[in-house]
Amino acid sequence: MEVTDLLGLETDIRIPNHYYELNEAELTERVRAVKERLGDRLFIPGHHYQKDEVIQFADARGDSLKLAQICAEMPNAEFIVFCGVHFMAETADMLTKEHQKVILPDMRAGCSMADMADIEQTERGWERMQSIWGDTILPLTYVNSTAAIKGFVGKYGGACVTSGNVKKMLRWAFEQKERILFLPDQHLGRNTAFELGVPLEHMCVYDPIANDFEYEGAWEDVRVILWKGHCSVHEKFTVEHVKHAKMRDSEIQVIVHPECPFDVVQASDFAGSTNYIIDTISQAEAGTKWAIGTEMNLVNRIIAEHPNKQIESLNPFLCPCLTMNRIDLPHLLWSLEELEAGRVVNRITVDEEVAKYAVLSLERMLELS
Ligand code: 13P
Ligand code: SF4
Repeated sequence: MEVTDLLGLETDIRIPNHYYELNEAELTERVRAVKERLGDRLFIPGHHYQKDEVIQFADARGDSLKLAQICAEMPNAEFIVFCGVHFMAETADMLTKEHQKVILPDMRAGCSMADMADIEQTERGWERMQSIWGDTILPLTYVNSTAAIKGFVGKYGGACVTSGNVKKMLRWAFEQKERILFLPDQHLGRNTAFELGVPLEHMCVYDPIANDFEYEGAWEDVRVILWKGHCSVHEKFTVEHVKHAKMRDSEIQVIVHPECPFDVVQASDFAGSTNYIIDTISQAEAGTKWAIGTEMNLVNRIIAEHPNKQIESLNPFLCPCLTMNRIDLPHLLWSLEELEAGRVVNRITVDEEVAKYAVLSLERMLELS
């Protein structure tokens, strides 16, 4: 693990064990105190999937789109301690100013979906796609991707999307080119393209490991090329879960995130981004009944915030996102106390060359959102 002192020197450092010997009350009190001492020098963005023990300290709470927008307009905080996952911290680094340092409290907070598309695979696949379809493809990437993939997309005229603006971005992309390559979440790409009227027969799946396509139709009919990636949390919801919820009580309405598989989205009553789910439940009438298909930390928080509605998880045995959960109170406290001592641990920086095009793809998205 890397630490940079304020002179820019780097040494290896890990969270000391004594942070795990503190109880929750001690950790909470120390985070509160160090946050107060750092004052305006510090800004903590937190994704809705973070644990309660962490999200309570967020200066801004949001989904991926909101957090990217906040980072782009970030005041002059010197330290941005990102409570989310690695690709979000990379995005924050690219959208903030040179002097602002972005820190991820635990470097193991990655995203299995983002890891499903690496840049070598993408370049190799792109070459293959160009040889079949020529210059007719615009690449779009879900923000849940590495900075290198965002850079690739930016270089070829494409943009980033989030679940909050994906329909708008897909419409925009179809105005630019005949075909779309959608990375790295096949489900978000398929669900959205279908909603916009693209039949399933006009979508193929690109398998980056085989460097081949899953498709039985004619090449010229392809409108959307879906990268074979998925979210390991949302892929765990099944049509059986939807059927069981409805069988238990026909008044239950099912609402899911569009990272869920196509048949699950089709079987549900509503599908939409994290913010859409939060807003829909908030605006629902008292006494209504809901089963929610998204990450558990968020579902549990929604349940606690709406005691006048009957809400459950669509899959009560689902685990929270394990990488989001890597950010815990000990890591948060450690990274903050190190900052106060003049040492920057776990700083996230994106290579300038990569950032040049990646920022383009992010800016295109932010302009259109
Ligand atoms: P949104 O925040 O865009 O809804 O994405 C959900 C997610 O999986 C974040 O990792
Ligand atoms: Fe990645 Fe899914 Fe976790 Fe989001 S919920 S960080 S997409 S694994």
